[in-house]
Amino acid sequence: MESPFKSDILKGKVALLTGGGSGIGLEISTQFGKHGASVAIMGRRKTILYSAVSYLQSLGIPAIGFEGDVRKQEDAKRVVELTVNHFGKLDILVNAAAGNFLVSPEDLSPNGFRTVLDIDSVGTFTMCHEALDYIKKGGPGRNSTSGGIILNISATLHYTASWYQIHVAAAKAAVDAVTRNLALEWGTDYDIRVNGIAPGPIGDTAGMRKLGPEEISNKSKEYMPLYKLGEKYDIAMAALYLASDAGKYINGTTLIVDGGLWLSRPRH
Ligand code: HXC
Repeated sequence: MESPFKSDILKGKVALLTGGGSGIGLEISTQFGKHGASVAIMGRRKTILYSAVSYLQSLGIPAIGFEGDVRKQEDAKRVVELTVNHFGKLDILVNAAAGNFLVSPEDLSPNGFRTVLDIDSVGTFTMCHEALDYIKKGGPGRNSTSGGIILNISATLHYTASWYQIHVAAAKAAVDAVTRNLALEWGTDYDIRVNGIAPGPIGDTAGMRKLGPEEISNKSKEYMPLYKLGEKYDIAMAALYLASDAGKYINGTTLIVDGGLWLSRPRH
């Protein structure tokens, strides 16, 4: 699909995306690259990571991949440093890495609960923490007045409650709190904008494959306001809006991109 944005809105920017090698993360990487950014992606799975890098490079996008697990502080630190060594600076951090599976609370071990919080919530905070010195105003390659941008990929399931998703709901609630608190403190001190995106059901993603594609794509269409699944493109366009100057006065918000689904209830 043709982008509604000019192709240079991220010209000269350097972005680092966790989970940038597949699903929503890869689409954001692609669209950031198509709109002028250089892109570093971080992931745990070597094959997926390097095939994503080849794909981005085949589109003419300056891209590099770094293996790493957001649960390990040393990986976060190393990947941020390698990104800055390679591209000279860091302007945009996107936290898209996430873990998920369907399980009832009684069948979920405390370690399973902790694992998802470690990836989604602690991982997001760790990446932000390690990126701060580079992304703040006056960081290497940056001027002394403008800081960079952080985008955290969230969800809508914790706005109410969701069956078999207690761990993810808790994790994404924490992500939203991290978004707001960093927006307040780092916006004030370092001129960094921190925002989130809360996708609804997005076709062709690991989330949809894992979270009951049949039910979501068939049954809930009956009460979805826009009667269709979202596309990865929809999330990437929201990310472009928030990461570009179009969103320069937006800080501390999590933009819901779900066609209005979280508002809806069955008619009967
Ligand atoms: C119950 C499970 C489980 C399952 C793992 N665990 N899978 N419990 N049901 N299906 C438990 C294990 O028993 C273990 O606890 C603990 O979790 C850690 O499991 P590991 O296998 O050691 O973890 P790890 O290998 O690190 O894998 C992490 C993972 C995995 C999250 C469990 O699924 C993963 O990495 N997935 C890839 C990323 C992914 O799924 N992305 C999609 C995101 S979609 P015990 O007690 O036995 O030690 C998304 C959408 C959000 O985020 C919102 C949509 C609406």
